[in-house]
Amino acid sequence: MRSDHNDKIAGNGLGSILVTGGAGFIGSNFVLDWLAAGGGPVVNLDKLTYAGNPENLASVQHSPAYTFVHGDICDAELVAKLLQEHKPRAIVHFAAESHVDRSIVGPEAFLRTNIDGTFILLQAARAYYGTLEGSQRESFRFLHVSTDEVYGTLTPEAPAFHEDTPYAPNSPYAASKASSDHLVRAWVHTYGLPAIITNCSNNYGPYQFPEKLIPLMIANALQGKALPVYGDGQQIRDWLYVGDHASALRVVLQSGRVGETYNVGGGNQRSNLEVVTTLCELLDELVPESKFKPHVQLVKYVTDRPGHDRRYAIDARKLEGELGWHAEESFETGLRKTVEWYLANAAWVESVTSGAYQQWVKQNYGGRGGEDAAEERTTIAAGEGSR
Ligand code: NAD
Ligand code: TYD
Repeated sequence: MRSDHNDKIAGNGLGSILVTGGAGFIGSNFVLDWLAAGGGPVVNLDKLTYAGNPENLASVQHSPAYTFVHGDICDAELVAKLLQEHKPRAIVHFAAESHVDRSIVGPEAFLRTNIDGTFILLQAARAYYGTLEGSQRESFRFLHVSTDEVYGTLTPEAPAFHEDTPYAPNSPYAASKASSDHLVRAWVHTYGLPAIITNCSNNYGPYQFPEKLIPLMIANALQGKALPVYGDGQQIRDWLYVGDHASALRVVLQSGRVGETYNVGGGNQRSNLEVVTTLCELLDELVPESKFKPHVQLVKYVTDRPGHDRRYAIDARKLEGELGWHAEESFETGLRKTVEWYLANAAWVESVTSGAYQQWVKQNYGGRGGEDAAEERTTIAAGEGSR
């Protein structure tokens, strides 16, 4: 572990930030973006669950501006020690269990990390904030990275989620994130902790673990495996390229108002079936030699997710109007970049999906009728009936 002194040298005088869960999908994109933008030193506390991959940050691992700490946010002693040692000017809290399907199979880990972990972090941040004085105290921020899933589900015509939409979480994952948001809110109001919450829509982009829709479909299609669409595939998500989420967090950290919530989203509502068919078309074009073309023939409707939220949509006008943030990628440009990244990084996919991941695939898709690979190919073309 490096010292505060080194942090100051590496960051040209800028104080460090403590990031939790920085080896995961959004965290690692944020850290790379932050360091590239000259934001100052980063201390990354990550437990390295199945979703955390230090390889995501291989390009900065030897940088004097980057410190990795392998540990759990539920370890109060470790968190307090890190805060004392590095004296960060902000905490950016990503660490979480993040996959809805896993939360349905095993909610315990979600309650532990997302609720208990956030509580422990808030208590440590509060104690640390109490020791700060002057400009350090003035500028300290706790940025809690959350999700639009806390707002529940929308009917097709309902207006998009805004910051005052009542919380109505439907999955164990969403409930655990909603709980953590409420804790953060209470720590602001009761203890005066200078925290801000962001609630973002579905992200996609490089380094996303292939259990989530977009990277799973890319990985399966490349291997000629079934593309398991839950239910009728007409559920709608509002997609944001991960680099745009990283830039939103930078802006909020810099100029967001303490105690506020900011919704983050790119205004890209698409049904799951549209997403999957667009991915198939991109793969047809980018992998013309594929023997699985047209990839859309791999689509297979499988048993729906229990309690599946029908539609998410984010109204990001507060963030755009107040802080001047705008998403740079359209869904089309972002998705093409993403597919190109996965094509160029097959070794990364291979390394993160070996071992325990295979068990997850069996567990999640075995009972749904979507576990088959190319050999069985009981496919239903997109648009035909569903269950
Ligand atoms: P992820 O699952 O890819 O990464 C989570 C990271 O947290 C991993 O590196 C993991 O090792 C680490 N971690 C888990 N438990 C930990 C613990 N107890 N202590 C320390 N580290 C721990 O998740 P993600 O998709 O990058 O999401 C990051 C955050 O953004 C989460 O809080 C999530 O709720 C939120 N979010 C995600 C999305 C999305 O589309 N992925 C959208 C909005 C908000
Ligand atoms: P996911 O990436 O798990 O994100 P979230 O559940 O947090 O929105 O899923 C995105 C959508 O894709 C969601 O409606 C569930 C659906 N989905 C499938 O149809 N098949 C799959 O194999 C997966 C993983 C998701």
